[in-house]
Amino acid sequence: MAAPGAGSAQRSVALVTGAGRGIGRGVAQRLSAQGLKVALSARNEEELAQTAEACDGETLVIPADITDPQAADRIFTEVEQTWGTVDVLVANAGAGTSASVHKTTDEQWQQMLDVNLTAPFRCIRRAVPPMLEQGYGRIVVIASIAARTGDPYIAAYTASKHGVLGLVRSAATELARTGVTANAVCPAYVDTPMTDATVEGIVAKTGRSAAEARQILERKQPIGRLVTVDEVADAVWLCVTNGAVNGQGINVDGGAVQS
Ligand SMILES: NC(=O)c1ccc[n+]([C@@H]2O[C@H](COP(=O)([O-])OP(=O)(O)OC[C@H]3O[C@@H](n4cnc5c(N)ncnc54)[C@H](OP(=O)(O)O)[C@@H]3O)[C@@H](O)[C@H]2O)c1
Repeated sequence: MAAPGAGSAQRSVALVTGAGRGIGRGVAQRLSAQGLKVALSARNEEELAQTAEACDGETLVIPADITDPQAADRIFTEVEQTWGTVDVLVANAGAGTSASVHKTTDEQWQQMLDVNLTAPFRCIRRAVPPMLEQGYGRIVVIASIAARTGDPYIAAYTASKHGVLGLVRSAATELARTGVTANAVCPAYVDTPMTDATVEGIVAKTGRSAAEARQILERKQPIGRLVTVDEVADAVWLCVTNGAVNGQGINVDGGAVQS
């Protein structure tokens, strides 16, 4: 017999933010391949259309800037009107920035908090009431290994990711008896356009070649390579299918942070 809140087979509606490329696209493809209808949101409509094309099943493209205070409500309302309650929220949209702590501007700081912390908060706040009503929900935030440890030159990003892990842990404890779980997935460097931008940043700052810059990132990881989008999607799927995994920050980092 299935444990209370464990069932997922009949649960069919997912929302993935930041679904236009990288991890969000891979997660959307995985959820779609598993039979869920997947709503796809990000700002770039063309990239969302490419993700929709790459998915096996039904998709719904909802362009939005997730840092707009009204965005979460608008996205959820559109999904509900089309398919019903969002059973699975994957709050993935995010961005990075790099600067020494004493050179980090107010603008950089605020931008990181807006996209990596406040936006997932607003999505979770909007997702929970209908999930509670139906006694089932899965919330997965794509945080980062920067939620678990500090690295130089990414203070604002690190603070936002530590913050979002705190949000997930608190929500998970609060919701634990309701059939709704909340978890974070914490990857190290993943092979995505965001990491390509990091490589470009190293090239610009150090004059190294792109191949050398990429190698630096690969060597930072105990497994000697970048994490794949599929490996992140595997961790998300674990959070979706296993109702006893709750309040976790699941490191997908090749062993960099052992917990
Ligand atoms: N790549 C890594 O090494 C790595 C490691 C650890 C954690 N992560 C986290 O994983 C998540 C996805 O990263 P990724 O590597 O897949 O990044 P990516 O390739 O840059 O993709 C980011 C996605 O988020 C969307 N997004 C960014 N800002 C947005 C906004 N204001 N409103 C709506 N959508 C927005 C982007 O679409 P638009 O620009 O079109 O809006 C895009 O679809 C992020 O939260 C990131 O912090 C990444």
